[in-house]
Amino acid sequence: MTEQKTWSQRFESALHPAIARFNASIGFDIELIEYDIAGSIAHAQMLAKTGIISKQEGEQLIIGLEQVLKEYQQGIFKPGIDAEDVHFAVERRLIEIIGDVGKKLHTARSRNDQVGTDTRLYLRDKINQIRQDLREFQKVLLDLAEKNVETLIPGYTHLQRAQPLSLAHHLLAYFEMADRDWQRLGDVYRRVNISPLGSGALAGTTFPIDRHYTAELLGFDGVYANSLDAVSDRDFAIEFLNAASLIMVHLSRLSEEIILWASQEFGFVTLKDSCATGSSIMPQKKNPDVPELVRGKTGRVFGHLQAMLVLMKGLPLAYNKDLQEDKEALFDAVKTVRACLEAMTILMREGIEFCTQRLTQAVEEDYSNATDVADYLAAKGVPFREAYNLVGKVVKTSIAAGKLLKDLTLEEWKNLHPAFESDIYDALAPRQVVAARNSYGGTGFEQVRKAIKQARARLEKPATKS
Ligand code: ARG
Repeated sequence: MTEQKTWSQRFESALHPAIARFNASIGFDIELIEYDIAGSIAHAQMLAKTGIISKQEGEQLIIGLEQVLKEYQQGIFKPGIDAEDVHFAVERRLIEIIGDVGKKLHTARSRNDQVGTDTRLYLRDKINQIRQDLREFQKVLLDLAEKNVETLIPGYTHLQRAQPLSLAHHLLAYFEMADRDWQRLGDVYRRVNISPLGSGALAGTTFPIDRHYTAELLGFDGVYANSLDAVSDRDFAIEFLNAASLIMVHLSRLSEEIILWASQEFGFVTLKDSCATGSSIMPQKKNPDVPELVRGKTGRVFGHLQAMLVLMKGLPLAYNKDLQEDKEALFDAVKTVRACLEAMTILMREGIEFCTQRLTQAVEEDYSNATDVADYLAAKGVPFREAYNLVGKVVKTSIAAGKLLKDLTLEEWKNLHPAFESDIYDALAPRQVVAARNSYGGTGFEQVRKAIKQARARLEKPATKS
């Protein structure tokens, strides 16, 4: 490519090559090219509509811009460092293709409102894609839940056995987290989808532009009310990174559970060969690399959020070159979240097998039915706190005797409290312990079946933009 001077005649010498490299964003912002061209086409249409340029010039600009995109897609147009960024690269190639008319494109526009427009158009698309990814993930969780309503799994608090659960209930907890993520992104979308185009460098423009027209052409829901705010706002990026971080929090928590469940200590799941890896030295190993990587990648998304917050906190109005740093954070967060959602969706769909025998045994082998004994007495009129204390004592003596609660004889129960009858054994059985928790939002099978139906209805609602 020919060496061209980008700047006005004010500059006499070219940039130092190392400084040019340092300054350039083309290495990463080329990712925005299709959005940059879409924004430029809308801008050209507006310039022609308002009579700032002629209709014919407008058409020439559009044909030229479409040609630039085609050349890029065909791999013919490969801008280098000398172009500095995607905006200059496209403009320069346009001028090469259509000649002097191309020089009219940047009338009434600055790279500042241009880059803001591109970034929003990009993020809008990515938000829609991630919301789709989330729906896929939710669907897989729901399918798995549907098959496991009556599969029991120990429930924990403080990572200590607490009360048994329907496995479906456990999986639906992650469905709900993903649902909030989906909603949250829809909310972020509303603030992403506002047009800064036409704000100029910072103060607006002397030309009779029509910002509402470009906004409409580009599918924005509104325009920024203040030009300074428009070119320097990155709240939408921070909000997106916050939503992305929460998705990662949720995926990471699920990952942690799967890693624990796959350990020999738990033995609740086995990972299928298609989703597990081996060790280069220990032939017996099967490692949960997928959830480990998801857990690990969570840190970089949090990092991008932190970086953006710090990037913004000291910036005077309006545009500052610091803002160029927003892109790699966004691009990497988008890629990371999408890759993790895809991997976890595959893992949950076909990479994980719950060991039902071990799970059945697990819920039998502990004292996680102790609350139910207390509830049993309370239901018979014994004040709950009294019942709680009594059962605590029973658990203590049973542990000392190496017995489970189900091993106590009716006589032993009766000696503890006359209210005990032979139906205590039913009340203690893990299946009954789960079934009995039939309060709204609880793990009782009936509730879980209702929750699944309700969740399915949510998924089947026609997808809206936000
Ligand atoms: N590459 C720049 C960025 O990503 C584009 C905007 C440059 N604006 C400027 N006034 N230097 O932020």
